[in-house]
Amino acid sequence: MPIVPLSLLMEDADRRSYAVPAFNIDNLEMAKAIFLAAEEEKAPFIVAVGQGAIAESGIDVLAGIVHTLAEKTSIPVALHLDHSRSFPQIVQCLKAGFSSVMFDGSHFELVQNIAITKNVVEAAYAVGASVEAELGKISGTEDDLTVEEASSNLVDSNDVISLTSAVKFDALAVAIGNAHGMYKGEPKLDFELLKKVNEITGIPLVLHGGSGIPDEMIRKAISLGICKINVATELRISFIQGISEKCEEGCMDIYKVLNYGIDKVKQTAKEKIRLFGTSGKAR
Ligand code: G3H
Ligand code: ZN
Repeated sequence: MPIVPLSLLMEDADRRSYAVPAFNIDNLEMAKAIFLAAEEEKAPFIVAVGQGAIAESGIDVLAGIVHTLAEKTSIPVALHLDHSRSFPQIVQCLKAGFSSVMFDGSHFELVQNIAITKNVVEAAYAVGASVEAELGKISGTEDDLTVEEASSNLVDSNDVISLTSAVKFDALAVAIGNAHGMYKGEPKLDFELLKKVNEITGIPLVLHGGSGIPDEMIRKAISLGICKINVATELRISFIQGISEKCEEGCMDIYKVLNYGIDKVKQTAKEKIRLFGTSGKAR
């Protein structure tokens, strides 16, 4: 199936009250794992490519892997650029066939965030791709991006009104107390703020920092307008633990080692797919 735009997946998720998982990939094996998980669960999904994977392997290599795997599946899948703060990088990804791009404007003044998001939308919509914007600064570490707790800030509902009235886009990442990486304690998500943002705008909302959030909080967030949930850290941990376990056994068969890692990532991805209510939603 050809890669589909994020907007197509968001519309269905919003209508049927589930969240589409955005799984970050770092290599071929993790990509294979999430395609297997989505096919076994008959679940639409998003392959997210972040700044760490791009620095390591390059946009074209990662896009080539995902496009090739997508052609072999019947499950709707979007190819999404995660946390970009660079307009030239966004254009490069659109040229490489990404069907969705995130401009992470949370590190800019609102006026700049709006102006650059407008340019990103113009470029993306010209090629039928979708756009995710961000308001509020999410704490934690994601690849090259570290935001200390003290300098993170929750989404401001006035900013939501300013951004969504200035430019049309497809999904909005909101900072409601979520954080990148594993949480140090129980996450404290501001569900009242999420409810308020959802009431202000009909745009599908995105929850970053999906790793380590308790199931009940995930379900509550989906009930309050979250239609896309990003997961990276738990997948990476699963892959590394799988590979390490096999190596500690003394296994020197590279395919047994890699496939064991793939299977561990697949199991984690399937758990998230079921939790997000995405199983069986592929049309
Ligand atoms: O952008 C990627 C996600 O926000 C990943 O967050 O590593 O905490 O699952 P996570
Ligand atoms: Zn993120």
